[in-house]
Parts: sequence; structure tokens; C-alpha cells
Amino acid sequence: MMGKYKMVHLGDSSRDDKAFQYASRFPQIDFYSISKGINESISQRHARSKGVGNCAYMEGDFIEGLGKIPDGSVNGVYSNMAVGYYNNGFNSGDYHQRLFELVLKKLASGGKFSFSIHEDNAVSNGNGAMNKKIIIEMLKNAGFDGVEARPFHEAEYGRTYWTDFYGQKGKKAFQISAGKARPTVQL
Ligand SMILES: C[S@@+](CC[C@H](N)C(=O)[O-])C[C@H]1O[C@@H](n2cnc3c(N)ncnc32)[C@H](O)[C@@H]1O
Repeated sequence: MMGKYKMVHLGDSSRDDKAFQYASRFPQIDFYSISKGINESISQRHARSKGVGNCAYMEGDFIEGLGKIPDGSVNGVYSNMAVGYYNNGFNSGDYHQRLFELVLKKLASGGKFSFSIHEDNAVSNGNGAMNKKIIIEMLKNAGFDGVEARPFHEAEYGRTYWTDFYGQKGKKAFQISAGKARPTVQL
């Protein structure tokens, strides 16, 4: 029998506990939320998530958190305005290459990786989004299939606190998606 569907949310913030919202809406799916940016205490989050029972929080770095999840066990990894950022210097290009390779390792075959970034200005240091061309190259180098980037639809800007924030500032957002290929079966 197949196990329960598993999703990993990277880079939630205390303003937007999306993993909890999705977990409440989709009880058939287990959610893991990994982020450094949880301002409320982790015990407050655990207390709230008890009510739903399918949402686990890991406070800390994406790579460290993903390391605790079994390889090949995750059906989807998603994120908004967090992956793809240099973010005060702790997410370098090398960091992202390692992160993308790890995400691929954690995904089950046929699994999806999807995240949003704002504007594709190349900013080499400080705060800013990585150029989406660089991100696409890195995802392909990591071994992802079907790597795509598309502009946000107007209605998508209301998705999270930060997609809305950048939308209000007139910055364009993009949705990046990539998949883990299913093995080909020789008949
Ligand atoms: C700009 S906020 C986006 C929050 C929310 N997803 C939204 O769209 O409103 C980015 C979040 O990702 C977290 N973050 C960024 N890089 C991270 C990393 N390498 N490991 C863990 N958390 C990280 C930050 O601490 C912050 O909470």
C-alpha cells in the first residue's frame, strides 16, 4: 500500500503559516514546514498544529531540516519568496546548488519542486533574488526534469504576505517548477 502523501514547505514566516493552513485543508497530506523565520515560539506552533495532527515544524536551515527527512519519501516541495534568495548573505549560490540536489534526493520519483521568486535581477550579494536563468541552470545541473519559469498571474500576488508585498511595489514575480523523473521501465 502507498504511504501518505508528503509535502515540504520551505521558508514559512510567522505572518503566514501556510503549512498549517494547507494541513487544515488537506488532512490526507502530511506537511513539514522548515524555516529559520518563525517568530512565534516553536512550542506555540506545535500547540496549534496539534489541532490538525498532520503538520510538523522544523525550526532552522532548509538543508539541515531536509537532511532529517528520509530520501525518496516526499511528493512535493514548495516555497514562496524564500528559495532563490541571497537573504542577508546566508544563502549563497553554492548553498542553492546543494539545496537543489538535496531536494531532488528527498523527492519520490514523479515528485514536484515549485517555488516563487520576484524579478529576475541578478544581485550578487546582499538581499535580492537570484537571476532566474541561474536558478534554471542550477536546477538542471542538480538533475531536475521539466524545469520551467513562468510569470505570475495577477491573482497570484495575493498568495502570501511577501508575494503581495512585492506585487504592491510593482515587482514581477515568477513561478519556478521542476520535477523528478519517473524511472523508465524496460518491457
Ligand atoms: C521573505 S520570507 C517569505 C515568507 C513567506 N513564505 C511569504 O511568502 O510570505 C523568507 C523566509 O524564508 C526563511 N529562509 C530563507 N532562507 C532560509 C534558509 N536557508 N533556511 C531556513 N529558512 C530560510 C526566512 O527566515 C524567512 O522566514
